[in-house]
Amino acid sequence: MKHILSANQFNKDDLEKILARAEVMEKQCKTGKIEKLLENKIVACIFFEPSTRTRLSFETAALKLGAQVISAENAMGNSSTYKGETIEDTTRMLCSYADIIVIRHPKAGTLDLAARVATKPLINAGDGINQHPSQGLLDVYTIKKEHGRLNNLNVVFGGDLLNSRTMRALVPFLRFYEGNTFYFVSPKELALPREYRNELKEKGISFKEMENLKEVLPVVDVLYMTRVQKERFANNADYEKVKNLFILKFQDLKNLKKDVIIMHALPKVNEIDQQIDTDPRAAYFRQAQNGLYVRMALLLYVLNL
Ligand code: CP
Repeated sequence: MKHILSANQFNKDDLEKILARAEVMEKQCKTGKIEKLLENKIVACIFFEPSTRTRLSFETAALKLGAQVISAENAMGNSSTYKGETIEDTTRMLCSYADIIVIRHPKAGTLDLAARVATKPLINAGDGINQHPSQGLLDVYTIKKEHGRLNNLNVVFGGDLLNSRTMRALVPFLRFYEGNTFYFVSPKELALPREYRNELKEKGISFKEMENLKEVLPVVDVLYMTRVQKERFANNADYEKVKNLFILKFQDLKNLKKDVIIMHALPKVNEIDQQIDTDPRAAYFRQAQNGLYVRMALLLYVLNL
């Protein structure tokens, strides 16, 4: 049985198998000839934290493959968690109904607790600031599709790096490929947490940290912007102090390469000028669309189909 808990659990072979399958899924979606490989299966999508893309694309992926879906979109308030049920007990029950369980939770590490008792494959759809492996997979799929390669890339993560689970889910995949250089650019209030910086050093990943995008704009191949995550702040006053500190401006585009891709896991708030949305280098809506194909591939992968 395979649980998908973290991007760190994959090897390069696993990754490339999923990317290849996602390509097949994309082709099948585009021709409308989708093999119903999940007929008679049930996928549970249980979200203890809000979502647009992850929940709905997992549900769409399941439906396209012929599965049926049971879901809780506000599980914190509308499931028995509200009455005090533990994640372990909730997971036991979900496993008695569904064949695959997709869970998002605001608390880092919750999926690891769920995995201890799960008798069906679990997929982590985001746990606090920790991990979001299906996002990392769709991001790497997007980079390959847009750039035609996964090596020799200057990859810049910008914005709220203190709280970014999407960054933590993409770096492990890009590490498999030669010649990638990571730049982490953020105001000091939102810089990489010390523990994650140490983890990168222990793994021998070379990276640079800086506070200003200007010096990297001319060299960047993948500019991955992140939202300042209001929901991770203990109080609103602290969020208000930093919410406008890091914005990609329309005038910055002239300093970027012609073939750069601007990525964002979405939702975005104000960290990318809206005028940038129509620039062909803005890849974030294409990136979100790729989530459907990658999640189809992932649902098949966890059932060894
Ligand atoms: N990228 C992402 O996780 O988006 P949602 O929060 O809308 O699922």
